[in-house]
Amino acid sequence: MSTAGRPILVIGSANMDLSVCAAAIPGPGETVLGANFAASPGGKGANQAAAAGRLGGDVRFAGRVGSDPFGAQLRVSLEESGVDCRLLDVARDVATGVALITVSNSGENAITVAAGANGCMDEAAVALLADEILDCGLLLMQLEIPLAAVRAAAGLPRRTGSRFILNPAPYNAGIELEWLSGVSLITPNEHEAAALLKCKPADILRDPGAAAAELRRLVADAAIITLGSLGYAIAGPNGVHLGPGMVTNEVDTTAAGDCFNGALAVALSEGAELYEAAHWANEVAAISVTRHGAQASLPWRSEAPVLVRRAN
Ligand code: RIB
Repeated sequence: MSTAGRPILVIGSANMDLSVCAAAIPGPGETVLGANFAASPGGKGANQAAAAGRLGGDVRFAGRVGSDPFGAQLRVSLEESGVDCRLLDVARDVATGVALITVSNSGENAITVAAGANGCMDEAAVALLADEILDCGLLLMQLEIPLAAVRAAAGLPRRTGSRFILNPAPYNAGIELEWLSGVSLITPNEHEAAALLKCKPADILRDPGAAAAELRRLVADAAIITLGSLGYAIAGPNGVHLGPGMVTNEVDTTAAGDCFNGALAVALSEGAELYEAAHWANEVAAISVTRHGAQASLPWRSEAPVLVRRAN
């Protein structure tokens, strides 16, 4: 069994993003005047599934939304992106997750999430997905649903030789490093990497390759630290490599990491080698930051660069 040619399963969150652009992100106790309010589909899990779907992946999304208009809109957005939503359930008596996002003039963002129905994606819900997890070639999860659910899934993919990519976002202080050995590939940004390694983001930026190598020791196969406009650092079976930052007209970085993870999953499921998959994901994610919104910013395959496969 292997990753290539088998479906991608994303288990995670779906949120309606309520976004406002402002000159700067407000500090504690501060009020700033913003503009350009938008309500648009988001959530780290749903974004990663939508990214994979738009890039042509055979992708299924498992999550929970509420029985409200936001939940219905999120399902439509995923289906329009080519995602199989048969495992997206509707929770009763609980609202769809919502994210409050401020985007600054420089394209940075600050996000606060009300989990709502995402909180129902617990250990019991993941236990019901065991057959789906064993059937997929690649499982992709984040930390915007209960940690126990991620922990419950962690050991399953390796039983069938499939990959488990964990994007540890947002960082959860309850994460136990022991079960990360069931993770094939971990993909934090510099903030999440710093939290995992108990250091400061500045330490990660000073030597991202060394940080990726240290993270790699916690997981089965490889670690990739995404560094925004500075590129990425990967540590895996072929050693440490620093990927280039992409020069772009950056307007909104929301979901850039999600785009990276979705693209990485697609490239691996198409049989790409890990380092070339990371390189392509970096290029694809650079497109997303040139557009506003989360799912709205995700590129389609026709917009993405060609995935160059080296002869093995
Ligand atoms: O990664 C970006 C996402 O984080 C947003 O879409 C928001 O919903 C939060 O989950």
